[in-house]
Amino acid sequence: MCGIVGIVGQQPVSERLVYALKRLEYRGYDSAGIATIDGGALDRRRAEGKLVNLEARLNEQPLAGTIGIGHTRWATHGAPKERNAHPHFTAGIAVVHNGIIENFAELKDELTASGAEFHTETDTEVVAHLLARLRRDGIGRREAMFAMLRRLRGAYALAVLFEDDPLTIMAARNGPPLAIGHGDGEMFLGSDAIALAPFTNEITYLIDGDWAIIDKTGVHIFDIDGNVVARPRQVSSDVAYMVDKGNHRHFMEKEIYEQPEVISHALGHYINFIDNRVVPVWDIDFAKVPNLALSACGTAYLAGLIGKYWFERYARLPVEIDVASEFRYREIPLSPQSAALFISQSGETADTLASLRYCKEHGLKIGAVVNTRESTIARESDAVFPILAGPEIGVASTKAFTCQLAVLAALAVGAGRARGTVSEQEEQALVKSLAEMPRIMGQVLNSIQPKIELLSRELSKCRDVLYLGRGTSFPLAMEGALKLKEISYIHAEGYAAGELKHGPIALIDENMPVIVIAPHDRFFDKTVSNMQEVAARGGRIILITDEMGAAASKLDTMHTIVLPNVDEIIAPMIFALPIQLLAYHTAVVMGTDVDQPRNLAKSVTVE
Ligand code: AGP
Repeated sequence: MCGIVGIVGQQPVSERLVYALKRLEYRGYDSAGIATIDGGALDRRRAEGKLVNLEARLNEQPLAGTIGIGHTRWATHGAPKERNAHPHFTAGIAVVHNGIIENFAELKDELTASGAEFHTETDTEVVAHLLARLRRDGIGRREAMFAMLRRLRGAYALAVLFEDDPLTIMAARNGPPLAIGHGDGEMFLGSDAIALAPFTNEITYLIDGDWAIIDKTGVHIFDIDGNVVARPRQVSSDVAYMVDKGNHRHFMEKEIYEQPEVISHALGHYINFIDNRVVPVWDIDFAKVPNLALSACGTAYLAGLIGKYWFERYARLPVEIDVASEFRYREIPLSPQSAALFISQSGETADTLASLRYCKEHGLKIGAVVNTRESTIARESDAVFPILAGPEIGVASTKAFTCQLAVLAALAVGAGRARGTVSEQEEQALVKSLAEMPRIMGQVLNSIQPKIELLSRELSKCRDVLYLGRGTSFPLAMEGALKLKEISYIHAEGYAAGELKHGPIALIDENMPVIVIAPHDRFFDKTVSNMQEVAARGGRIILITDEMGAAASKLDTMHTIVLPNVDEIIAPMIFALPIQLLAYHTAVVMGTDVDQPRNLAKSVTVE
């Protein structure tokens, strides 16, 4: 994940900016830079690789100034080279950015047509040029910032320096977080409180749509419509020196809300957003493998089940999948020409590792989809596919799950291209859908919480809950059930909707709510029939669907949660959000230990 810092100070800021960036190193990055204003002049230093390289550059060419911004970059658009490192400059304006600007290509064309000269492959540079053009048209800084933000579509956190205003930093948030630190005659800006902990623990968090003007005396915050708003100023907990909960009650809640940000970094590692292609720099040649084995545990296994649908549908690649604790005892006939993918957030799960070693003994090419690149599973694999979700502290996996899905989707599409089963046009359409996820996730997370909290109070009174789904919503139904039972301790089961009549329907009564995950896809009508079977027996239905599904379903449900209409390939990641929040809020109502549920460990390193 990228990191942003800023300081409007009374003392030189260069060293403190770098120190703050070091506190964001846990987010992962591949280049870094800072910019300051000194004596009316804006200047920057940038370096590829780790922060020590930036420090060496600053030792050679120091940067003075008591105002500045800094950035650690995880490349999404453009190679991880110095030329693409932030801050990006043009016409006395410096910008640092975290996230994805989805409409950057059309903005770049428009700006190029009006004479802008671009020097990088990044989406961020369009922000600097948009501001420069507005300022050339005589628009004031504040109005220019407001006008620029209304042109952007996507998920972003921004910090901006104007050379002709050495007293303020402008910032904006729409997805990736931004924290403002209150100092004594100085003000600070960072991607989270961890970066600011050395300077202050008095923090104000911007919310999506907010933008701000920060000077030494404080901060002026505006909402998406330009109205002045106040956001709470709070004392960040001591934990900020480790990993920070931000303004969330639990790590799980924070990690649910981090998904728009982290998924953009997961995608950025596998997708070239300029030509909407999957970037197949992999050590597994999917064109040559006759089939694929998949193995994992728990939530990671359920991500693999969804991945199976995609590999078989897009790459026409037969997939053999099982939970790791069963996989190697089945003595599956494996051929050395096959490949095997092991999915693991921790990269240390003993069952998964044992299955990996079983496949390795049989000569298969081994791939690891992991969140911890230096883990045992990663080290023992031929190919590592990082999910870049950042540290996941809550035992119940949330952001790792959706990042696992994002990576599996990219791999499946890339495998399809390699095997000639996905055309270039189909690939571009699928990649465009994937690129919309950060923005859509942000919209969903900002809209469904009140209804989910209401529903969780009713769910907390239940003893049993049934989740149903078809297609990729079937593994998602199992994930919803797993989330609910592992943190609220309410018994829950996930079932293929079509299987209801083959047994589970005997359970249906008014005491067991049935949560139906049903985007308006090719399975919707059949799932409606299953819901009618439930309703006819007095069952209470909670329908999670999209706008088209809500319009089409005439059923009398207990609740209907309506999400945006989305393409089929991103539906599992978008529909994961309500089931994660439902489990979270139900557990909060139940008063269980959400982050450390009883009997559970974050990584199960025993078989
Ligand atoms: C998920 O919410 C659970 N905590 C658990 O099922 C987890 O997914 C499983 O133990 C696998 O862990 P891993 O991804 O670290 O291998």
